[in-house]
Amino acid sequence: MQRLIIEGEKRLSGEIKVQGAKNSALPLLSAALLVQGETVLHNCPRLSDVFAACRILGHLGCECRVSGNTVTVRADAPCGCCVPDELMREMRSSIAFLGAILGRTGECCLSFPGGCALGARPIDLHLEALRKMGVTVTEKHGMLRCVCPGGLKGAQIHLSFPSVGATENIILAAVLAKGTTVIGNAAKEPEIKDLARFLNLCGARIQGAGTDTVVIEGVDKLSPVEYTVMPDRVCVCTLMSAAAITGGEITVRGAAAEDIEAVIPVYEQMGCSVYTYSDRLFISRTRPLRAVDRVVTLPYPGFPTDAQAMTMAALSLAKGTSIMVETIFENRYRHVSELVRMGADIRVEGRTAVIKGVDRLYGARVEATDLRGGAALAVAALAAEGVTEIRGLRYIDRGYEKIEDQLSSLGASVRRVSE
Ligand code: EPZ
Repeated sequence: MQRLIIEGEKRLSGEIKVQGAKNSALPLLSAALLVQGETVLHNCPRLSDVFAACRILGHLGCECRVSGNTVTVRADAPCGCCVPDELMREMRSSIAFLGAILGRTGECCLSFPGGCALGARPIDLHLEALRKMGVTVTEKHGMLRCVCPGGLKGAQIHLSFPSVGATENIILAAVLAKGTTVIGNAAKEPEIKDLARFLNLCGARIQGAGTDTVVIEGVDKLSPVEYTVMPDRVCVCTLMSAAAITGGEITVRGAAAEDIEAVIPVYEQMGCSVYTYSDRLFISRTRPLRAVDRVVTLPYPGFPTDAQAMTMAALSLAKGTSIMVETIFENRYRHVSELVRMGADIRVEGRTAVIKGVDRLYGARVEATDLRGGAALAVAALAAEGVTEIRGLRYIDRGYEKIEDQLSSLGASVRRVSE
């Protein structure tokens, strides 16, 4: 088992290029299944989730090659339609393959994606939409069997919640379907736009991505392209929280300010100065950290749930009391107990966390139980007095490319040790 050892109280400063977005690379890899020929994805982050997605593609008969941050997917061969349980369990977001496998083969069998630390993670919205497109879904002993004998058909779909994964799966199922699909109350996250941009370059006909109504006109075939994955907006937020908590100043090259419009004002209220340019973001914190009255996580363009944990870490040292409300996931406060172990004063009541700023955090042995919660512990450790040891690195490695290198390049004292 690997651990991060962080010696705190180091002010971060410098410039860093943000990695490619995990939450875009995964649906893009799934979309490559729909393209006959060789798709090339640049700026793919080297993450365990990306490697797991490549293993699933390989299992389905694709040829997947990873070279640096470029992933090449050749999807000529006849495509399998079953994802074995052991591969499904490697990453929860493998449900993103459901739409693409159905779009390519008209059938799919995979095990129900398990819940995770964030909660049950149901897929009812995905399945309801696919049924409207002609898919018959049967579930037996935790295995999902989806068949679509007459081929997928366009449908009018209204999502009761703007689910990111459901929106992506519907788009993936609709691009080669017969007829037109309209998604009402679609998710508007930037990753949806990235997926639609890629698919349209391949010859798809998708309009309205990034708005709450997406229209997909089915086409017969998609042709391969080279594409560059968008920057990871959650990693940008993580670096912002690192600058905020250490009183540092960081330039994040490749950051797209429009992807984090709801986050910037929160960090300005915390006492940071944030300057954005077309291809970078500069953040510095020269004034004392201040509490923020209320931060509520919402679907895009609201404050992103993925930025909740690391922002909470920064707020734990702010003067005053902050309130955070997590409206997206039912159990996204698992990092609170570990932050408290480091000296934070945080109380959780249902979906609300009350963060009373303290003067100091202390290094401790803490455990990550999910990806962004783990990142929050690393952020807190950067400012804590003494040394922090973080276990559960496998969670952090799902979303951050060599987090120890990223933070060390900005002046942190971080090392990865193996048991
Ligand atoms: C995506 O998850 C991201 N993952 C998550 O990032 C992100 O937090 C989330 O979107 C919200 O922005 C990837 O893109 C791989 P949802 P997803 O479907 O698609 C409920 C990270 O840290 N729901 O929008 O699973 C669900 O339970 C990860 O990078 C249903 O009830 O998110 C949750 O409460 C974590 N039924 C809410 O909707 C469904 O059928 C949001 O889920 C689907 C979802």
